[in-house]
Amino acid sequence: MLVSGGGTNLQALLDALRGSSDARVARVVSSRPAVGALERARAAGVPSAALSDPADAAELLAALGDAGLVVLAGYLKRIPAAVVARWRLRMINIHPALLPAFGGPGMYGRRVHERVLASGAAISGATVHYVDEEYDRGPIIAQWPVPVRPGDTPEALAARVLAVEHRLLPLVVTELARRGVPREPVRLSAAGSAFVSGDALEIEFNLGGQAVRRSGGL
Ligand code: GRF
Repeated sequence: MLVSGGGTNLQALLDALRGSSDARVARVVSSRPAVGALERARAAGVPSAALSDPADAAELLAALGDAGLVVLAGYLKRIPAAVVARWRLRMINIHPALLPAFGGPGMYGRRVHERVLASGAAISGATVHYVDEEYDRGPIIAQWPVPVRPGDTPEALAARVLAVEHRLLPLVVTELARRGVPREPVRLSAAGSAFVSGDALEIEFNLGGQAVRRSGGL
C-alpha cells in the first residue's frame, strides 16, 4: 500500500482483510516519514518504510517488491512511468470525488471538496481507478455517490465521502483479489438504486451476477 498521510483507508483495509484468505496488506510504503499510516502499519505488525525519494523509480520498485496488487490511498506523489508499466492494471487509487471531475494535479484533500461545493454539484462520491502516468486519469473500476447536503462545509462532505471510501476500497480490493487481479480492466457496476436513503449506508455491486452488499451507518 502506498500512503502519504493519516492512513484511515489503510486501517479500513486492514480491518476488512483481517482473517481473509483473499488478500492481505503485505507492506506499507510512505512518501514521507512519521505519518499516521506508518504508525497504523506498525501497530498491525505490517512491514513499512518511508521513501527517501518518491521520484526514484528504482527505489519504489524495490520497496514494492513482488506485490500482486498495489493500492494507493492518500499517496500524493506521481508514480514514475517505469513503476506504472511494471504494475499496469495491478495498481489502483482511491479518490474522494466522482472522476473524471474534480481530479488531476493538486486535487487532493480539502481542495477537492471545496471545488465540488463551489461547482454547485448535488452529488459527490468516491472513485477507485487504475493508476496510469497521469494523476487521477486511469480507467475507473468503481464509484459510489454521496449526496451533497445544504449547508455542507468541505469538512462535512469530506467526512461522508471518507465513510464511503472505507467501504468501497476493501470491496474493490477483495473483488480484484478473488478474480486473481485480471490483466484486463475490471469495472464493477452498482446494483439497484445507488442513492443513500436516510442515514443507512448501503453499498451494493453486481459481482459475478450476484448482488453483494456492504452496509453500516454514516
Ligand atoms: C482520502 O480521502 C483519499 O481518497 C485521498 O486522500 C485521503 C487519504 O486519507 N486520496 P487517509 O490517509 O486514507 O485517511
